[in-house]
Amino acid sequence: MCLFFLFSLLRIPAASALGTITPSQYIRDGETLVSVGGSYELGFFSPGKSKSRYLGIWYNFSTDAVVWVANRETPLGDSSGLLKLTEQGVLVLLLNSSNSIVWSSNSSRIAGNPVSQLLDSGNLVVQDENETNPDDFLWQSFDYPCHTHLPKMKIGWDLVTGLDRYLSSWKSTEDPAPGEFLIRMDYRGLPQLLLMKGAKILARPGSWNGLYLTGIGYGSREPNPISAYEFVLNKDEVYFGYSLRSMSAFSRIVLNPLGVAEQFTWVYQKQSWELPATFLADRCESYALCGPFSSCSINNFNTPMCACLKGFVPKSSKDWNLGYWSDGCVRRTPLACSDGDGFIKYSGMKLPDTSTSWFDKSTSLKECKGLCLGNCSCTACANLDITEGGSGCVLWFDNLVDIKEFPPGGGQDLYIRVAASERATSNSPQLCSFSRGIACWNDIVYTEEETQK
Ligand SMILES: *[C@@H]1O[C@H](CO)[C@@H](O)[C@H](O)[C@H]1NC(C)=O
Ligand SMILES: *[C@@H]1O[C@H](CO)[C@@H](O)[C@H](O)[C@H]1NC(C)=O
Ligand SMILES: *[C@@H]1O[C@H](CO)[C@@H](O)[C@H](O)[C@H]1NC(C)=O
Ligand SMILES: *[C@@H]1O[C@H](CO)[C@@H](O)[C@H](O)[C@H]1NC(C)=O
Ligand SMILES: *[C@@H]1O[C@H](CO)[C@@H](O)[C@H](O)[C@H]1NC(C)=O
Repeated sequence: MCLFFLFSLLRIPAASALGTITPSQYIRDGETLVSVGGSYELGFFSPGKSKSRYLGIWYNFSTDAVVWVANRETPLGDSSGLLKLTEQGVLVLLLNSSNSIVWSSNSSRIAGNPVSQLLDSGNLVVQDENETNPDDFLWQSFDYPCHTHLPKMKIGWDLVTGLDRYLSSWKSTEDPAPGEFLIRMDYRGLPQLLLMKGAKILARPGSWNGLYLTGIGYGSREPNPISAYEFVLNKDEVYFGYSLRSMSAFSRIVLNPLGVAEQFTWVYQKQSWELPATFLADRCESYALCGPFSSCSINNFNTPMCACLKGFVPKSSKDWNLGYWSDGCVRRTPLACSDGDGFIKYSGMKLPDTSTSWFDKSTSLKECKGLCLGNCSCTACANLDITEGGSGCVLWFDNLVDIKEFPPGGGQDLYIRVAASERATSNSPQLCSFSRGIACWNDIVYTEEETQK
């Protein structure tokens, strides 16, 4: 251990004592730039057994936990790489042996007096030294995430510039090039986080309800001892992020090459990364597994079960009974679309896909139901924020997909619009067959709601 520390100290290049590079300096393969507080290092590395060289950022105490890579798609074939900062404030990665530029940063502005710094958050930034606002960066690596979501990093959109910050998996543990999996923000309707494989949605961590992402299903008002999640939505930006409660704690969320997001926390006592949470916990996470107007729940054998929402029947009973659920369910009784429709309340739910939803912060639940009943294509509503007794309104139109039922204690209330006769008969038995793995809603908490005039 002591040797390692000594070695780390010896490797600090004279050029970068304060974690900075100026246009007259460079970082060579074998040298590292240490962040201002010492937590992170930037340098050249080869992942696993690969011989290729990459410029990356890792933890000072855990050099194989790489959090960011510059030249993901353009590996260096030898160790003659050089990182320089141009007079205009652009970081360039050169291969000295062939005198070619392999990677460069980008900025829409030119700096008078540029300096590049590795901050103690793990963010590599380029700044104008004369700039008085410390957060006004010409360029920052946090705007171009790789597979790791670090505290203070934003996953989502700068709506002013159109910058989309998303996570993308590595191709493999030995190839940091972008793999097939992405975690990104969809801001159509109520913004939601999606896990994608190429253009296909695999799972939906989903929208934010003031306490947690609806797909995570649990969260408490009590501060989490390690991290605090945040979801910011205003006219300038929409993003998901998190911060750490302790300055001396380290946590990272990694989208691995198999498409699983894992949150690691550094445990000093053990000097190792622990894995407290894995998203994509069960097969009901699989996007729209049950098709429209049905809900997924996990039975005792940890297998998914689909059930039509009350007042809905399988679109194709034959397929449904064989376990082909993707066609989902259809309404048994058409909506009256005037007086008489009402809502059935489901508790403990993951809200449906919000990409075609409408939302408003200041509409109460009562007004929300009224708005829904006033529009023939509205199919469901819910509170936007579930803290402090609930506030705001989300409305869904047409198909409802990717609804999930959480075990007791999780999820939130969802109001599904049905015709009056369905509310009256909502206690009648549903089509179901346990022998074929088709569940009924016997165990779900639902209550009838008054029709609103
Ligand atoms: C790594 O960073 C941590 C946090 O800043 C610091 O306490 C520790 O001394 C550093 N270790 C090394 C080897 O520099
Ligand atoms: C780049 O390559 C040239 C020619 O081989 C060599 O003289 C020079 O020292 C190299 N520069 C660095 C910074 O290694
Ligand atoms: C650099 O930024 C400009 C606009 O700021 C953009 O048009 C251009 O495509 C970017 N280039 C790269 C390589 O990202
Ligand atoms: C930046 O500040 C330095 C020292 O304060 C000054 O000499 C220099 O002219 C300034 N550069 C620009 C572009 O304002
Ligand atoms: C119902 O809502 C949809 C979606 O917001 C909208 O396009 C449509 O115009 C609304 N219809 C009425 C009658 O308000």
